Amino acid sequence: MAPAPSSTSSAVVLNINGEKYQMTVDHRTTLLDALRERLDLTGTKKGCDQGQCGACTVLVDGRREVSCLNLAVAAEGSEITTIEGMAEGDRLHPVQQAFLDLDGYQCGYCTPGQICSAVAVIEEHAAGWPSAVTDDVRPEAGPPPLTPDEIRERMSGNLCRCGAYVSIVQAVARAAEAHEATAPGGDANQGGTAKEAAA
Ligand code: FES
Ligand code: FES
Repeated sequence: MAPAPSSTSSAVVLNINGEKYQMTVDHRTTLLDALRERLDLTGTKKGCDQGQCGACTVLVDGRREVSCLNLAVAAEGSEITTIEGMAEGDRLHPVQQAFLDLDGYQCGYCTPGQICSAVAVIEEHAAGWPSAVTDDVRPEAGPPPLTPDEIRERMSGNLCRCGAYVSIVQAVARAAEAHEATAPGGDANQGGTAKEAAA
């Protein structure tokens, strides 16, 4: 039976992967621990537990966040997407498929975080967000070419102890290329560079 709320805990309803989960959590419980220890959603990994490695990355209202630095009580009211919520039935998310096809992993421990981060990177890039290596940051310049350097910079918060970075960059580029091809009015303005990275 769930413990009753107290001065140090609260009843919350978390919306995760389209499902609502009701529970009482200690106010100090991180979103990462709530996912793994309370809900058995162990796809989200704990690496450093201090915001340094990206292994615990999930999407909160579509934006990537490290769940080890988020409190579960603060996540109430947000749409949380974890790696378990990426696929549609048997159909993998295009980013998952690209990681699989291009061997974007070795041991796989960092992979859920890499994939969640890559999904957001592709959306951020399509929305025209610049990165630290973008040459022309004027809004009218539009999305910068998604070069390997752009991908490396945008994915730099996700560490891979196996060093699978070459394949990870290729997988992100391939998924971005597919995203561009299916986006309304999108074509391959950046596709050439994404293709180069994916090659
Ligand atoms: S476990 Fe959260 S950033 Fe490392
Ligand atoms: S695949 Fe092993 S840590 Fe990244």
